[in-house]
Amino acid sequence: MTRRYRSQDWFDNPDHIDMTALYLERFMNYGITPDELRSGKPIIGIAQSGSDISPCNRIHLELAKRVRDGIRDAGGIPMEFPLHPIFENCRRPTAAIDRNLAYMGLVEILHGYPIDAVVLTTGCDKTTPAQVMAASTVDIPAIVLSGGPMLDGWLDGELVGSGAAIWKGRRRLAAGEIDNEKFLQIAAASAPSAGHCNTMGTASTMNAIAEALGMSLTGCSAIPAPYRERGQMAYETGRRIVELARQDIKPSSILSREAFLDAIVVNAAIGGSTNAQQHIIAMARHAGVELRLEDWMEYGHDVPLLLNMQPSGKYLGERFHRAGGVPAVMWELEQAGLLRSARPTVTGRTMAENLQGHESVDREMITPFDQPLKTQAGFFVLKGNLFDFAIMKTSVISPEFRARYLSHPGQEGIFECRAIVFDGSGDYHARINDPSLNIDEDCILVIRGAGPIGWPGSAEVVNMQPPDALIKRGVKNLPTLGDGRQSGTSDSPSILNASPESAVGGGLAYIRTGDTVRIDLNAGTCDMLVDDAELARRKTEGIPPVPPSQTPWQALYRATVGQMHTGACMELAVEYRGVAAVMPRH
Ligand code: FES
Ligand code: MG
Repeated sequence: MTRRYRSQDWFDNPDHIDMTALYLERFMNYGITPDELRSGKPIIGIAQSGSDISPCNRIHLELAKRVRDGIRDAGGIPMEFPLHPIFENCRRPTAAIDRNLAYMGLVEILHGYPIDAVVLTTGCDKTTPAQVMAASTVDIPAIVLSGGPMLDGWLDGELVGSGAAIWKGRRRLAAGEIDNEKFLQIAAASAPSAGHCNTMGTASTMNAIAEALGMSLTGCSAIPAPYRERGQMAYETGRRIVELARQDIKPSSILSREAFLDAIVVNAAIGGSTNAQQHIIAMARHAGVELRLEDWMEYGHDVPLLLNMQPSGKYLGERFHRAGGVPAVMWELEQAGLLRSARPTVTGRTMAENLQGHESVDREMITPFDQPLKTQAGFFVLKGNLFDFAIMKTSVISPEFRARYLSHPGQEGIFECRAIVFDGSGDYHARINDPSLNIDEDCILVIRGAGPIGWPGSAEVVNMQPPDALIKRGVKNLPTLGDGRQSGTSDSPSILNASPESAVGGGLAYIRTGDTVRIDLNAGTCDMLVDDAELARRKTEGIPPVPPSQTPWQALYRATVGQMHTGACMELAVEYRGVAAVMPRH
């Protein structure tokens, strides 16, 4: 079947021969001929997310060669271009601010250049949602190619996983069990090869979710970056995108409400990152799909944890891949009737068809549905006078934490704590070990000014560590609460993503150190126990100040971003969908 591609409007347009001449000539300087560009073959973009400052995605510099091979073999013409880099660990003030920037940049490229379809090269946390969001806004055929996790990290005969090893290491450092050198050695051991985080942090989560949505080939997300299957997957992905271009299969036909509900289910079953919350909502909104805040509890909360991967479980990415990866987890969910799998995917088959025969071969890694690692592993949604929406990742709540806080006889699931309030992470670091705060097991650590507008960009700071003195006594976690995020690799039972944030006058702006916070998991509430008159008085004091913007993008980000419960999207961008349908003018 031949169809006229949008690139032909540039390269094969007799009505504008002067412009066509101009469009054609410069591609020749790296050896493409006018005949190729006028042959009616689809131009396939490769959105290159790898670079020296995006090390998690750097494998894509290599994989792109195999993607090109696949595209050429299937009769397309590849054109690779850079995505704005996003590197979770290194970007200050936070990588979150770059999701919307990379999104916006990719939209402009896909709309304004002669590209008919695109391979989205994903890896580090926000590189996946940024590109899926852009693919929806533009709505040209698109496919996700994950870069894959690093190999499993090992040290002293034990698995050491990305991020998880850091959180554990810093507790051991505070307890005086290890020195700085050992801490750095642990960090190095957790990162043994090319690839993204090898735990079920935000990177593995978002790649799994892209696969669950139906945006990548079956089994794509879990293949470790250095494995030979990764290069083979790159080749097959390159071949497949050409077919998607020919058939004009666009994200709008794949990213349905059913797909997003399945993503919520899969996220719970894999013990996925809390960051998935705003990214799933953002991807859905850009796809024009309505997700309700209730959907998290209704579809996600009762889903059991089936995957034994850090931070909720024991193992790392290599074993996940060998156990069958995302299709094996979804196979369990499918058998249990939890998926809406009669929906299209980029493979050209339905999700149900993709999952056939994918039962796991490793039952310690991926448990049978009726023998889960934990029941009710989905996010718990809370609301109250501190915020309208916040989540808690129940799959990481330890038995000790449960016993200490959630098991008071006759009051199961209810606890009250004394608030210790910090304005941003600088304040936290300056004062956490201050003895005059009298922090003990009955305290909840509260951080504010860490949301999309306050930080700016919403920082991964809510998993605050208890004071050193408490850690030395064996208290590994205190309850925490905040309007920021936390790393997907954290095992902290935090109440996070609280929205609206303090900086826009959310309830957190009015809490004070010493207030009692009451959390009731039965009712789904979290409140400061402060009477109305006092609350009214505090409101006259205003909201805690936030630092000024340091760059133009920070200012623009703050002016356009929404709150976390609506995905922290650029609000004005959500109005644009399917923009490729209207050609940009010459
Ligand atoms: Fe990039 Fe974890 S820091 S994947
Ligand atoms: Mg992270």
